[in-house]
Amino acid sequence: MTSTLSQGALIAAALRLGAPTISGWSAREAALARAAATTIDARTARRLRERIWGGEDPLGEAFSALRAPELRRPLGATYTPPVIVDAMLEWSRAHIAPERVVDPGTGSGRFLLRAAPVFPRAMLIGVEIDPLAAIIGRANLAAAGLVRRSHIALCDYRDFPSCDVAQAPGIARASARTRTLFIGNPPYVRHHLIETRWKDWLVRGWRSLGIRASRLAGLHVHFFLATLLAARPGDAGAFLTAAEWLDVNYGSALRAAFLGKLGGMGVVTLEPRACAFADAATTSAITLFRIGERASQIRFRRLKRIAGGMSLTYGARHAQDVRVSRHVLEREPRWSKLSAARPQSRTAATGNRMRSADLARQGDLVQLGELCRVHRGQATGANEVWIAGEEARDLPASVLIPTVTRARELISAGRVLGSLESLRRVVDLPRDLSDLEASQRPPVEAFLKAARRRGADRSYLARHRHAWWSVQLRAPAPILATYMARRPPVFTRNVAGARHLNIAHGLYPRVELSEAQLMGLVDYLSTRVRVEDGRTYAGGLTKFEPREMERLLVPRPDALSA
Ligand SMILES: C[S@@+](CC[C@H](N)C(=O)[O-])C[C@H]1O[C@@H](n2cnc3c(N)ncnc32)[C@H](O)[C@@H]1O
Repeated sequence: MTSTLSQGALIAAALRLGAPTISGWSAREAALARAAATTIDARTARRLRERIWGGEDPLGEAFSALRAPELRRPLGATYTPPVIVDAMLEWSRAHIAPERVVDPGTGSGRFLLRAAPVFPRAMLIGVEIDPLAAIIGRANLAAAGLVRRSHIALCDYRDFPSCDVAQAPGIARASARTRTLFIGNPPYVRHHLIETRWKDWLVRGWRSLGIRASRLAGLHVHFFLATLLAARPGDAGAFLTAAEWLDVNYGSALRAAFLGKLGGMGVVTLEPRACAFADAATTSAITLFRIGERASQIRFRRLKRIAGGMSLTYGARHAQDVRVSRHVLEREPRWSKLSAARPQSRTAATGNRMRSADLARQGDLVQLGELCRVHRGQATGANEVWIAGEEARDLPASVLIPTVTRARELISAGRVLGSLESLRRVVDLPRDLSDLEASQRPPVEAFLKAARRRGADRSYLARHRHAWWSVQLRAPAPILATYMARRPPVFTRNVAGARHLNIAHGLYPRVELSEAQLMGLVDYLSTRVRVEDGRTYAGGLTKFEPREMERLLVPRPDALSA
């Protein structure tokens, strides 16, 4: 019934439910109320009140039905499903006991209404720019019996708290000690619809915090800034926004603030399929923060669907959590990839020897680059010469080095390369040929004469080497990996000590890793890395550059040896 109310009837219902009794009633709302020129009967009002008591939002639904998505878009008015509101409140309760709850962009007041029983002593402050939404929010708060605790400021949140103080000197103003929870769903509005003066405000505001910002940021980034400017150490917050700030250039200011003053603690992303919003198909992110916090690890979680009773707090039952250390995030320009790491077990399907369930529970991942440096193997400049063939048959064994020269050698070796026997040899001569014994010189001279004849001294690489004849293979890498194929890379523990050409990457530990840890790493990478983690080229080839491979997430060494 209510979902088909006219604007006049909607305002009439809100008035009947007591909207003007909520502090902050403004001249603009009063003017709208006068223009409504209609009333609703007592029975309808009673039924509405009962539904609001029952946790429904009939006025908010009527508002959304009245204004089509295209009309709501300029103000980003999409109301939040109650399960998400409840989960965000549950997280908040575990992190703050607030005296004020502030909902930036209050809409119909879903956050404030549900916060009321969770924080029974807190003031409930809404900030809303749209007078019709503000009237509805007030009606809901009044119908729920929250008149004495509530205040709605009809103003732009970027003017908060000055507009708030101006409208309600006593009720809403925070003293230096007032502990505030900022919670809500800041509007999603792209920069094209944002006025120049606010873009100037954005750049100035971030600059005052020592952060460079882009003018192209969406409105939710403005809301984060307004929150930062109003908040004090010890305040906490949970904001639901579009997830794009995690990755895009204009999100860099917010990413910097997240690791700085905002005190970011976690990010939960909701995939579009999670259907966070009935009329918006986008990945959303819930950003969890406590001002002044400096978490050494940030928790990421990715939810594919939302369900009643879902929780954002972190406990043993959340196997899908990924903890990423602060300094990884400081280096990493794109964060959503990190939340996509899959500590979930695929063990049964792959026969992984790791105790993956334990790892998953631990959820304690770091970038591979923290444990190992990844180097592409050496390029020779002329494989037909330097991979030993007929002309190398008289060379001394000391310069014929068993080397992985084809990706398929690693593929057929599988998880362990235990022998050098099947590998081809690469001719790796010393830079200074006088290091060779006298008896070794003649066959080497003969080989080099033949190599010169075949142009091996004129290749680009040969001309840029210290000595054109010295390929200079890298030291044996404890783990080798293929990096370009139509399949995920193969990771192989290089027990045999083979060298590798540039058809493979070598993983060289930066920290001491035991044999069990090296094998644990190979097992983990072998079962978790997917084709999608790399870069896919036309024709379906997937490639992992060394730095990309270093960004793969792996368990910490202590978990690897478990
Ligand atoms: C995504 S809705 C969220 C509504 C409500 N908090 C909820 O979660 O159900 C965003 C709200 O912000 C309001 N809004 C948009 N721009 C605003 C601004 N600059 N200042 C304050 N509120 C604004 C919109 O009118 C809308 O009600």
